[in-house]
Parts: sequence; C-alpha cells; structure tokens
Amino acid sequence: MDVLEAIKGRRSVRVFKSQNVSQELVEKLVDAARWAPSAGNIQPWEFIIVRRPELKRGLAEAALHQTFIEEAPVVIVACADERRSSQRYGARGKNLYCIQDTAAAVQNIHLAAYSLGLGTCWVGAFREEEAREILKVPRGIRPVAMIPVGYSAEAPPPRSRRPTNKIVHYETF
Ligand SMILES: Cc1cc2nc3c(=O)[nH]c(=O)nc-3n(C[C@H](O)[C@H](O)[C@H](O)COP(=O)(O)O)c2cc1C
Repeated sequence: MDVLEAIKGRRSVRVFKSQNVSQELVEKLVDAARWAPSAGNIQPWEFIIVRRPELKRGLAEAALHQTFIEEAPVVIVACADERRSSQRYGARGKNLYCIQDTAAAVQNIHLAAYSLGLGTCWVGAFREEEAREILKVPRGIRPVAMIPVGYSAEAPPPRSRRPTNKIVHYETF
C-alpha cells in the first residue's frame, strides 16, 4: 500500500471482530515499529503484547473503562525507556526524545496495521501507575500508549482535520 494512502485511509477503530490476530502479524507490527527514527538511534521503545483476557480487562479499567480495549484480541502496550534516552541526552532525552521516539514507533504500528487489513486505536488516556502494575513494568520505563489491535467491525468516517492554511506558517510563526 502506498504510504499516503495508508496515512489518509487509517481510522481509529473501536469495534473489533472476535477473529484472532496471528503472532506473525503482530511480529510484523513490531518490526514496523522498530524502523521508526529515534534520537541518536537510541531506540528507547519496548512493546508488551497482551492477549490474556484478565490483563486486557485490567488495562481497559486503567484506561478509564474504555471497554473496547479488552474486546480486541491483542493489545500492544508501547513503553518508553527514559533511562536509555537520559543516559545520552539528559533531561531532554528523558522528557522529550524517548516520548517522541516511541510515538513515532506507535504511528508506524498504526499505519502498518492498516496496510495489513487490521484496525487499531491509539489509547493514551489511562492511569499510568495502574497500567504499570498490571504489566509489571519497571521504574524508568513509561507505558505511553495502548494499541488495541483486531479486525475492524466498523467503518468509521474520517474525522475532520484543521485545514493546511490554518496550521502552516511561512518563515516565522
Ligand atoms: C496521544 C493520543 C491519545 C489518544 N487517546 C485515545 C483514547 O484514550 N481513547 C480513544 O478512544 N482514542 C484515543 N485517541 C484517538 C483519537 O481520538 C483519534 O486519533 C482522533 O479522534 C482522530 O481520529 P482518527 O484516528 O480516526 O483519524 C488518541 C490519539 C492520540 C494521538
């Protein structure tokens, strides 16, 4: 699939079929993630693949009861390793680069999933400490996004976007 087609065709999917997603496909998503750019090529990301229903239920609750999360056959939780980035880049690495790098990897997952016929949603609204406890994520590593993955059972229309002429600035702000 053409990259622009993927960028423009992808939608947040919140209703999933019960059909399972193969390990092979999940591995393709993680492979797409690891080709994201990262500051100094530090690659501060870690991914937790969650299929166990009780863990998915816990994640859905941590995500303010967004129950569609547990209805996806698999949830990928993307984490940012603050320590890897801060070792080289100090506070900027900890507060900015590791989050940016991981976000770029997360977007790769969304686009790759769409190109493979899968639906995903970026879930950022969750109680981080609760998610950390459920998944036993060590200190210094932040869970930053949950990505429920499955076969879409809906066809969401495109959400509106701010027009180009309202977001672009030439030469100065
Ligand atoms: C950082 C971030 C956090 C988000 N958190 C949530 C969330 O917690 N729950 C949810 O249903 N969607 C969440 N979304 C998805 C957005 O609502 C969605 O991307 C936006 O409405 C545009 O729709 P589209 O993805 O279909 O183009 C999040 C997206 C981003 C980038």
